Amino acid sequence: MGIIGAGKIGSAIISGLNGCFHEDIEIIASGRSDSTLRNIEKLGGRPTRSNTEVVSTSDLIFLSVKPYHFPTVVADVPPDVWGGKTVVSIMAGVRLRTLRELLPGAKVFRAMPNINALVQMSATAVAPSEMAGSDEGLLVGKALACLGSVRWVSEELLDVWTGLVGSGPAFLAEVIDALVLGAVATGMRRDVAYEAVLDVMLGTAKLLKSREGKHLLELRDEVTTPAGTTIEGLKTLEREGVKAGLIGVVEAAVRRSKEIGEEIDTSVMRAAKNGGN
Ligand SMILES: NC(=O)c1ccc[n+]([C@@H]2O[C@H](COP(=O)([O-])OP(=O)(O)OC[C@H]3O[C@@H](n4cnc5c(N)ncnc54)[C@H](OP(=O)(O)O)[C@@H]3O)[C@@H](O)[C@H]2O)c1
Repeated sequence: MGIIGAGKIGSAIISGLNGCFHEDIEIIASGRSDSTLRNIEKLGGRPTRSNTEVVSTSDLIFLSVKPYHFPTVVADVPPDVWGGKTVVSIMAGVRLRTLRELLPGAKVFRAMPNINALVQMSATAVAPSEMAGSDEGLLVGKALACLGSVRWVSEELLDVWTGLVGSGPAFLAEVIDALVLGAVATGMRRDVAYEAVLDVMLGTAKLLKSREGKHLLELRDEVTTPAGTTIEGLKTLEREGVKAGLIGVVEAAVRRSKEIGEEIDTSVMRAAKNGGN
């Protein structure tokens, strides 16, 4: 398996794939700087500066460079080398039709993981959903499962996914910080409050996942005692418009994700046609 661009997310992919398969797999990964190449070796991959070597020696290739570097990869690798390869692009914004045009003969997929791949807890979406059951789709699904959960979606949903799931860790970090500050304001030490909030988040997520088929607000009602503490907090949450604010946060992120997608795709195609410049 090959990884083109072993940066933050590419490194997480190398770590996730390593040891995840029963059969022996070799992971070859590319980067440009010495530090990236050293990091690939440290993670158990075979480092190279040659993207052509990555493509020619791999059946499955992850494309994890920044979108604006993609045209240089296209210029680097002779077009016939892509033929018959399975390629998973995790680059935000670059559309399947663009990938198909620039990587002739390759079977292309787009996936959107999030940074939680670093702890094998990514929520990854992959398109196109109609390829899920093909031989290539099964391989892609198996490899992405090494990073966390995998959902097959239509390509249009990837922009929504980027706004919700890609940006989600940042939004939740803010929510966590707000809850911690609430505890600090009422006399708890920050480090104690932080650990407590993380445990509440993890525990609540696990409990909700275990209650398949039940609406999540049933849990809220179960812990809301008449005239108790929870209802006082919930009244403030409503009064301050917290829920409406969070709905707006996701809407804004998804809107921006769609705008950026269009911009990226157009500029990648233009640069690739100009030989990577
Ligand atoms: N970070 C996330 O949470 C996240 C989540 C989902 C998707 N993504 C997508 O993943 C991609 C990478 O994001 P990132 O945050 O991991 O970026 P990053 O840390 O900057 O990594 C990009 C890597 O690409 C390498 N690179 C650049 N040009 C190259 C070339 N021509 N050939 C081979 N390698 C090359 C760089 O190597 P050098 O450092 O040696 O130059 C760097 O290691 C982006 O397209 C982004 O949209 C990121």
